[in-house]
Amino acid sequence: MDVIEYARANRNRFLAELVDFASIPSIGAQPEHKADIQQAANWLQDKLLQAGFTKADVMPTAGHPVVYAEWSAAGSDAPTVLIYGHYDVQPPDPLDEWATPPFEPTVIGDDLFARGVSDDKGQAYVHVKAVEAFKETEGAPPVNIKCIFEGEEEIGSPNLEPFVLAHANLLAADVAVISDSHMLDENTPAIAYALRGLVYIEVAATGPDHDLHSGIYGGAVLNPINALCRMIAKLQDKDGHVTIPGFYDCVRPLDAEERAELTKVPFDREEWLKEAGVKTDWGETGYTIVERTTARPTLDVNGIWGGYTGAGSKTVLPSQAFAKISMRLAPNQDPARVKQLISDYLAEIAPPEVSIEVHDLHSGHGAIVRRDSPAMQAAFQAYAEVFGKEPIFIREGGSIPVVATFQQVLGIETILMGFGLPDDRLHSPNEKFHLPNFYKGIETVIRFMVKMRD
Ligand code: BES
Ligand code: MN
Ligand code: MN
Repeated sequence: MDVIEYARANRNRFLAELVDFASIPSIGAQPEHKADIQQAANWLQDKLLQAGFTKADVMPTAGHPVVYAEWSAAGSDAPTVLIYGHYDVQPPDPLDEWATPPFEPTVIGDDLFARGVSDDKGQAYVHVKAVEAFKETEGAPPVNIKCIFEGEEEIGSPNLEPFVLAHANLLAADVAVISDSHMLDENTPAIAYALRGLVYIEVAATGPDHDLHSGIYGGAVLNPINALCRMIAKLQDKDGHVTIPGFYDCVRPLDAEERAELTKVPFDREEWLKEAGVKTDWGETGYTIVERTTARPTLDVNGIWGGYTGAGSKTVLPSQAFAKISMRLAPNQDPARVKQLISDYLAEIAPPEVSIEVHDLHSGHGAIVRRDSPAMQAAFQAYAEVFGKEPIFIREGGSIPVVATFQQVLGIETILMGFGLPDDRLHSPNEKFHLPNFYKGIETVIRFMVKMRD
């Protein structure tokens, strides 16, 4: 049987397996799910061995394990493709907004609903099934394949760079492929060539050494929540421009050619407003929505708390206030430098009545990858054949820090072959994966591997 025919004939079983995978609550951020993380890693190892990989190991790290597999059946003159994916998922909260339970994967129409099904279990599993299709028809894939599936992507991959550094020889390859991004819509494939970086910090502001009665002390003691809010307000102006001194120093201005390229990305503002659930857009003046969401750096408060937040009222002047602040970075901004800049600025603008502590939660480099490689051509053609439409080159506003790690440590470029859709609701309630993309993704990867051999 032909490889593609095999993939088509086995769609129902592939779906049943993905349902199985997505029913494991492998939430990386929550310690009580440690056993589920381990179970997801073991599940993948099992499936990789069944798909023909000659080696599949669950390799411990200081955190959650890496699943590493390889199958070098194509000989030393064939290229080696390194596939990366992640089997950890975001917490499903808020739970009561899910129409179906997050870890009881449910098919509705053409979509499979479950936490992590698009980000990234379904997209990662595409590659495992493509390899299986070669095994069961031609005996082996046409290129040498290595897989690295991590369990800490959603918590900032704290142990991945050390793992890649320690196993650089094991991971040596000609090109990396990651399916963990978006197409433009179900008929318009896209290949991302740029990702933003990320700095994520938590700030604690401490005022009095214990909570105070706001009637007795209010007016004479600086409230740390008020102080922190004023500090946060100084980080960005009303037009979305970040006001931290030096923040834009390393941001290369978008040149005319890049801006022209970005206007080729089909964009429907009304559709976008609907998807985001907002009445109007907002942001840095002088840039389009596409530029602001994919190429320009940003600053967002992700959470802010302190004092009393329970039912009713409690008159209190709290001792402490906290905020989680993240910044998306342009590809050439250095996360370590940006972290230093915001820490210095917060220290400078902090009023003397409160003390400030900044904790680094995680950070990662953005990346731009070459578009003129043979592997990029292979991916381009594979998409065009399966979807009947040439893919569009896009920049992604999200972050996949391993792309920069692969460039720096392994010296290889990554092809970002996404099969998600913009309305997949990543990190939100009711996440879904569009099943036609699952099946077409498998066919695209099969064709990509064949072309890599040609
Ligand atoms: N798959 C996403 C990144 C992504 C989202 C790429 C949309 C392209 C389009 C990934 O799992 C993710 O969520 N990354 C985090 C970064 C991480 C360091 C926590 C992100 O972008 O917030
Ligand atoms: Mn992801
Ligand atoms: Mn994610």
